[in-house]
Amino acid sequence: MNSDASTPARGLFIVFEGGDGAGKSTQVRLTRQLLERNGGEVLSTREPGGTEISEKLRSLVLEHGHGTIDERTEALMYAAARAAHVQQVIAPNLRAGRHVLCDRFVDSSLAYQGVGRNLGVEKVAAINEFATDGLRPDLTILLDISAAEGRLRRLTHTGGVDDSDRLEAEPDDFHERIRHAFLELAKAAPQRYLVLDATASAEQLQDLIRERLEELL
Ligand code: TMP
Repeated sequence: MNSDASTPARGLFIVFEGGDGAGKSTQVRLTRQLLERNGGEVLSTREPGGTEISEKLRSLVLEHGHGTIDERTEALMYAAARAAHVQQVIAPNLRAGRHVLCDRFVDSSLAYQGVGRNLGVEKVAAINEFATDGLRPDLTILLDISAAEGRLRRLTHTGGVDDSDRLEAEPDDFHERIRHAFLELAKAAPQRYLVLDATASAEQLQDLIRERLEELL
């Protein structure tokens, strides 16, 4: 046990998950403001991304036009981006006592690559265990949304222009399978999840998040 009073307590690691168009980035922003008002230092970040190499991998895996990316390669690209993100950004900031809010993490790979791409949740979990060195969120906030509603919201957001990336461009039934995969993950470990109906207003969602965070802080 570390008895050095000058060592800061480890920050909270909070992950936001959910389908595309669920409103994760709004809730990351509001949660950051909430924790800062409470006097905490907060880092908000996203996956894939958050480091130079991870942002490059993000472009490669999400943009159209890099040729065929098979399922295993896709899963490893997300995992590689995550490894750099954990080692260079997430873990050091948690150790320094900052709360880290992350838009997507391992569950996205379990849902999109494990279930969506049919690689199997266990196989994808294994490469991610290696990538993250076993780091797990203290809380995962799952913003649950139907595929149709998510697609509609993305279109509203872009003024009707379809600028879908490689994953967003998948059909609704792919996104429905992702949705159910997230719900199954939450059901298996309810104490580590807060599942919210993403069609509620941003303010209502933030109230529920605040209540849960007050228990954790
Ligand atoms: P974003 O649009 O929420 O930033 O996420 C980028 C896309 O990448 C989104 O369609 C989900 C997908 N994705 C995966 O397929 N696997 C992953 O591990 C992550 C982090 C994202």
